[in-house]
Amino acid sequence: MRTVAAVAGALSYIRKHTREKPQIALILGSGLGALAERVAAAGCSIPYKSIPRFPVSTIPGHSGVLVLGRLEDRPVVIMQGRCHYYEGYGPGDLVFPVRVMSALGAGTLIVTNSAGGIADRFRTGDLMLISDHLNLMGMNPLRGPNAADFGERFPDMSAAYDAGLRALAKRSARLLGFRLKSGVYAAMPGPSYETPAEIRMLGRLGADAVGMSTVPEVIAARHAGMRVLGISCITNRAAGLAKTVLSHTEVLETTRRVAARFSALVRGVVRMSR
Ligand code: HPA
Repeated sequence: MRTVAAVAGALSYIRKHTREKPQIALILGSGLGALAERVAAAGCSIPYKSIPRFPVSTIPGHSGVLVLGRLEDRPVVIMQGRCHYYEGYGPGDLVFPVRVMSALGAGTLIVTNSAGGIADRFRTGDLMLISDHLNLMGMNPLRGPNAADFGERFPDMSAAYDAGLRALAKRSARLLGFRLKSGVYAAMPGPSYETPAEIRMLGRLGADAVGMSTVPEVIAARHAGMRVLGISCITNRAAGLAKTVLSHTEVLETTRRVAARFSALVRGVVRMSR
């Protein structure tokens, strides 16, 4: 099915459940789903598996529910859990939810993830404001015929992460009593974690943190003309930089530990982004 028709199908399904017109879309990564729960309580929750063509995540910590409702009195749509390239989805499937949320009316995308810290200045448990990214996934979600209904053939990526939203995130952190450090996020295909040699390479290429998501969604969001804010939770020191071995359990434990701070930071941005 053509993407435009598929997005329209998903949209009309969602519209049967709610008339809410979200302005802000949020994608919550591993273990960061708690924020959605308070929105869901007074809003509308739709399992991904019931939405026509919506990809369904298979990873623990990604619950797979689309939540529409109000956060800080702003209409929002929240993806509680996301799909990853390493799960085997095609690039078009990965960015389908972004296109649906754009079609629902969201002009802003706040995307979150967990990432391994490469730069010395990052400690486990830090939040990193994404200033730019390196797409090292070996794919681009816009490959193939251009879906001109969504955007142009050659979207500009020179200001992918919106300066105004980054300033708001810094202000939100300051109000909460901490300083938000910025950095470059490198996206690797996964699912194996990197080798220490790969981490040394990424550091030399200019990466401050590494993960396995976010970049496809950001490319699709920029294609659709959305403003983007990205925040990484540094869940571990990247491979070879700490004595411990890497595990998804450690990733989830760290995100749980910083969930309250993370939620407060995002709520602050949503509240101030008028
Ligand atoms: N590497 C890649 N992805 C990740 C990491 C990491 O160290 N931590 C959390 N997601």
